[in-house]
Amino acid sequence: MLEKIDELKAKVDAFHSDDKEQIEAFRIEYMGAKNGLINNLFKAFREVPADQKKEFGLRLNLLKNAAEEKIKNLKESAESSAESQGSGIDLTLPGEPYNLGSRHPISIVKNEIVSIFNKIGFNISEGPEIEDDWHNFTALNLPEEHPARDMQDTFFIEKDPDVLLRTHTSSVQIRYMENNKPPIRTISPGRVFRNEAISARAHCIFHQIEGLYIDKNVSFADLKQTLLFFVREFFGKDSKIRLRPSYFPFTEPSAEVDVYWGLNSEADYRITKGTGWLEIMGCGMVDPSVLRNVGIDPEVYTGYAFGMGIERIAMLKYQIKDLRMYFENDIRFLDQFQSSLVR
Ligand code: PHE
Repeated sequence: MLEKIDELKAKVDAFHSDDKEQIEAFRIEYMGAKNGLINNLFKAFREVPADQKKEFGLRLNLLKNAAEEKIKNLKESAESSAESQGSGIDLTLPGEPYNLGSRHPISIVKNEIVSIFNKIGFNISEGPEIEDDWHNFTALNLPEEHPARDMQDTFFIEKDPDVLLRTHTSSVQIRYMENNKPPIRTISPGRVFRNEAISARAHCIFHQIEGLYIDKNVSFADLKQTLLFFVREFFGKDSKIRLRPSYFPFTEPSAEVDVYWGLNSEADYRITKGTGWLEIMGCGMVDPSVLRNVGIDPEVYTGYAFGMGIERIAMLKYQIKDLRMYFENDIRFLDQFQSSLVR
């Protein structure tokens, strides 16, 4: 009898498997309640001679514990290796959603404006965000001490007033005229910087698109037609514009452009201050002294320029009430804009 226990103990110790079914068969063979080998030995306890009972019981319990321990360990390791092999994956579970981003509203509006002007022959020009005084101011007819410099609160680099963050993309137009001969038809989109307190209506960083057209016999009527074309493409074919006299140092005459927004709701009264008209950009005929500054003869060539803020146009298009939202990168805001990317 004692040998029988030792024999089973040796078999239990030797047993190894990582197959769940084999382990279960082993468990039933040894530990099964009805006909398990170990259980049968317990049943045989009665027949053991009295002087061997103590030794028998001791060894039998050791065997039982060893078998239990063995089964537990083998089951655990079979489970974890099945997981790491991936066979535990439930293929019927729903997949993780995979979202592509949407375009930023500023990019959407910028691309739309650019493509409208592309259609009528304007190319795109770009320039540096860190500018010098000449390209941002002096060449644009804003000599040092000119009071109009105050119109654009400028970020200067400490100790060197010749290095600054551009306050408008008119600087790109100067660079373009310095490097290209007329006829010129170009638009310059880009980021600009002004030292303004951040609020719902103003930010120290924003985006502009400025346009420039230089050729022989360019007139104010050409400017007006071009702007009307743009506004009708962007805001709808029944849109109306009006031009109000204004002042910019680099254009003469200068004007501000309003688009008719309408007065159909209370909100319309509020945003148009009761007039129905909304200002969208500045424009004018390029001042002869600007042309001279870049080596273009104003007796031969004339031209027009215009400039608009992309944030402002996007606010009108999407009814965005707070400029700061453009820069917060809140996914709940950004997700609302139609995307040209496939979802
Ligand atoms: N540069 C002007 C601004 O930043 C806009 C403008 C451009 C006005 C061209 C007239 C002509 O406000």
